[in-house]
Amino acid sequence: MPSAAFHELKLRLRGLELLLRLHPEKMFVPNFVSLLAVHAMRVKPGEVFADICCGSGLHAIAAAKLGARLACGVDTNPVALRYARLNARLNGVADRCRFFQGDLLAPLAARGIKADSAVFSGPQCPEAYVDRTLSRELQAAVDGGGDGSGVNVRFIRGVRAILAPAGRFCLPAAGWCGPESSLRALKEEGFASRTLVRTYVPQEGRGNNSRYFFLAGPARRRVRLGAAKAAGGLTLILEAREPGGKPPARAPICDGLGLSAEISLEKARSRA
Ligand SMILES: C[S@@+](CC[C@H](N)C(=O)[O-])C[C@H]1O[C@@H](n2cnc3c(N)ncnc32)[C@H](O)[C@@H]1O
Repeated sequence: MPSAAFHELKLRLRGLELLLRLHPEKMFVPNFVSLLAVHAMRVKPGEVFADICCGSGLHAIAAAKLGARLACGVDTNPVALRYARLNARLNGVADRCRFFQGDLLAPLAARGIKADSAVFSGPQCPEAYVDRTLSRELQAAVDGGGDGSGVNVRFIRGVRAILAPAGRFCLPAAGWCGPESSLRALKEEGFASRTLVRTYVPQEGRGNNSRYFFLAGPARRRVRLGAAKAAGGLTLILEAREPGGKPPARAPICDGLGLSAEISLEKARSRA
């Protein structure tokens, strides 16, 4: 059971109320990409869902709340997994969530789990940009090695091992690590894919940090584009708040897609 100081993230998005506890020094705190992926992911009631590189468990938990009968998360970080299990309990979906430690797809493949739908939001920062003063866990959360695209591509090359025949997945690809590598791998692996959303994120001194979201499925099936069709000029508002700190920062992050989210980040010091 996680103890010590933790952060609490309250999210309201896609009609869901989500409460996440986090250890900000030892695990990834969901960011706007994570939230966009909650909007972009597709899951139908009764389906099996996979959250690869699950961190806090956000996508598995959201999937379970949206009706998945089984939502599996995988991560290498044992601290993140402890919090993911706690978060599933806090959100009342522990009976439908399972979390495994291991590399990408391996734990699900080893158990013969086949997902109807998956989200992959893994490390994709070029290694030269990784802040080496961060904890080992936080470096591993973002370090995509080389130009940053390697883990995305490894996921795409291997994902069939854990996908049901008509399975589909959603993955963000950072502009700064070259979304072309992901697009090429999707094509070479025979996936039909569509770009759901392109976002532009102001990023100091790091060049192009635009993000692309691909929704992919078997080539013979039409990829559904519900979210992209909703292009209505709405804006995702990211609001991070620390009690007693600065007033909440509100910044438009993503135009052109019908989504909205509210976040409040609070520090708490009681036992998790
Ligand atoms: C950028 S964080 C995203 C976490 C979560 N998906 C989210 O959106 O909040 C990437 C996560 O991938 C995990 N990770 C890194 N390499 C991994 C690997 N080879 N296999 C499984 N998980 C990995 C990290 O521990 C981290 O929790």
